[in-house]
Parts: sequence; C-alpha cells; structure tokens
Amino acid sequence: MTVTDLPEGVEPTPLALLLLGREADLGSERGVSCPGSLPAASDPALVDRAAAAKAALGDSVFVLGHHYQRDEVIQFADVTGDSFKLAQQAAARPEATYIVFCGVHFMAESADILTADSQQVVLPDLAAGCSMADMATAEQVAQAWDVLTDADAAAGTVPVSYMNSSAAIKAFTGRHGGTICTSSNAERALRWSFQQGQRVLFLPDEHLGRNTAVRSLGLTLDDCVVYDPRKPGGGVSAARLRDAKMILWRGHCSVHGRFSLDCVHEVRERIPGVTVLVHPECRHEVVEAADLVGSTEYIIATVDAAPAGSAFAVGTELNLVQRLAKRHPDKIVAFLDRTVCFCSTMNRIDLPHLVWSLESLAGGSVVNRISVDPETARYARKALDQMLALPQYAP
Ligand code: 13P
Ligand code: SF4
Repeated sequence: MTVTDLPEGVEPTPLALLLLGREADLGSERGVSCPGSLPAASDPALVDRAAAAKAALGDSVFVLGHHYQRDEVIQFADVTGDSFKLAQQAAARPEATYIVFCGVHFMAESADILTADSQQVVLPDLAAGCSMADMATAEQVAQAWDVLTDADAAAGTVPVSYMNSSAAIKAFTGRHGGTICTSSNAERALRWSFQQGQRVLFLPDEHLGRNTAVRSLGLTLDDCVVYDPRKPGGGVSAARLRDAKMILWRGHCSVHGRFSLDCVHEVRERIPGVTVLVHPECRHEVVEAADLVGSTEYIIATVDAAPAGSAFAVGTELNLVQRLAKRHPDKIVAFLDRTVCFCSTMNRIDLPHLVWSLESLAGGSVVNRISVDPETARYARKALDQMLALPQYAP
C-alpha cells in the first residue's frame, strides 16, 4: 500500500509508518499482511463505500470496535467497548452471520470461541496482533508448568490469564481450572482464584497482575515473584515459587509500559490540580503515583461523569485519549506522556482495511476469517465462561 495520508510535516520514516499502523513491526506483530488489493487510503469515497457495504449486509453483520481504534473506523462500529464488554457483546449476537472485529487478534479469537459455529469472525487486518499477547507462547507456558511441577508448586496454583493472550494460552488456563480476566474484572478473578487455590500464575501482563494483587487484594510486593520464560527455571528458585502467592509472567504492554513516574511529576507541574487517570497495565510506580486507576471503560466513565472545568492526564492509548478530549471541550483531557504513543497494532485496522473486508463480505467472500480449532476452543471457552460467571464480591 502506498502512504498518501501522513499528517503535514510527518516524513514517511519507518517510525512514522509504524506509529500510523502502515508498516508491520516484525518484532512485535505477527508479521502477516493481508491478501487481496486494498483501496487506496486517499480514496475520497471510502466513507461512502464502507457505509454502502455495511447497509448491503444489514443485520447479517455486526461490527465491534475497541476503544483504541481510530475514529475513521470507530464511526462504523455497532458497539464500542473494552475487551470485556466486546466479549460479552460478541456472545450476545447469535443472529449476526459475520462479526467484524475492529480490535486485535486475541479479541477476534475470543469472539470466535464465544460465538456459534455458524458465525464467522473477521479481523480486517491480520497483522493487528498484540505485542503483549506475543510475550507468552503455548510452549513457554507448558514449560513453566513443568518447572512449577518440578518445584512442587503446581498443585494449588490457579492460572489466571489476561484476555490479552492467545487462544492456546486460554485453553491451557481452562485445562488447569483457571479463569480469564480483563482489566475490568481482574480483582474479582483473583479473589475467585484464591478461593480455588493458594497461589496464582498470572500471565502474560506482570503489571496488571502486580497492581491488582497489591492494590486490590492487599498482598505485598514480596508475595509476588516474576517468572521470566527466557531464563532457565524462569529465573526463580523452587523455594520462591512455592512461597509466592502471585507468580507473575514477565510480559508487558509496549504502549502502557512507556508511561513513567517522570510523566506523572511533569504533568502535575504543567497542569496544577490535574487528576492522573491510568490503565492498570501501567508500571506499578506509575499506578501508585496516579489518582485513579481502571480499565478503558472506567476511564471513559470517569471523564464523562466529571464536571465541566475538570482536568485529567490520561495514561492509556492515544486514540482513546484524543476522542475523550474532543468529546469534552469543557474539560482538560491531556495525554500523560509528551510523546505520541498509539498502539501500532490496533492502528493497523484503518478505513481501507474495513472497506475491503465489508465489501468482500457483501460480495460473498469471507476474508481474514479468524477460526480457533475445536479442541483449543473447547478449553479456552471453559476459561472464558468462568470469567463471564465470576461472582460479585461485596466491596
Ligand atoms: P481493556 O481491557 O481495558 O479493553 O484493555 C485492552 C488492552 O489491550 C489494553 O491495552
Ligand atoms: Fe496489546 Fe498494549 Fe496494544 Fe493493548 S495497547 S493491544 S496490550 S500492545
């Protein structure tokens, strides 16, 4: 695809292309590109073409849009949400033949697992992966379980996998009696897990695991150990594995991991009285220094509910922060970092890819179908159903 729509002043360097989602980051994405020919990004008829294809498909298509998607895509979403809400929504639409998932690969896999066999899930760009999800492979997790078994620590360990993980990891979780969680129910998932066993293997985001365990469950930093799949034995002694309450997989989000304590101090100087509002994928010291912490749905609800004149510095993906700022001209909604920070993989889904997938569907051809094999899907579903059934706990 040629790049014709860079903002004024932005040269088409590899970094700019990456930030705009126009190039594959072979280090953090699946490195796959789409078959077929995409419409040019400069085509002025793209919006009309997407609208026409969607209208032609009628109720047979349901378009889901994650909050980190670009505005040009989100305008065509039938429902927007965080990963938890979108999983629920996908499961609640049995009448839609096609689910077009404007999000990333693991979300589309979950939608496929939660929907009927007759429904087909489409990811408009197959290169929309998640660098965090790629930090835990099924082989590494199977090896880690062997390490725990050898250390006499597997019995009593409940796996809790963040939604941001492959279907294979979700299946591992289901096979071992664990649950999936998202950033909006991680506390409930941990409370439930500690009723099933004495320790949790939390993967693949060490920050969400640590932040939830320490801030919401009152565990100490010393109760947590970090298991590094690149080190022999995870880099942790057998005794530490046995003593730990939380075994955190060494993985992180490359977007949220960028926010630092300096960003928090700098914004408090720049905007006096600002409320610092961050996603729990941020590092522990950032979350500790913030005023409020929560999932993307929580962030949106908090800014929406605040009175005019409020000021927020938001530590999450930039498409969402920009949309919130636009929606609330009577409030200050600043980005927590001074540097631009989109999720490059979320940004892969753009209008040309959406038009291409909708027009292909309208023409009778299903492109970029995401399909999880039945055996993996069966156990992954067990862990996803466990998440959807997590009990409420009194505050
Ligand atoms: P949410 O669970 O808040 O939607 O976050 C998903 C995600 O990918 C955050 O980086
Ligand atoms: Fe993955 Fe981070 Fe992008 Fe979310 S923001 S999809 S965790 S890379």
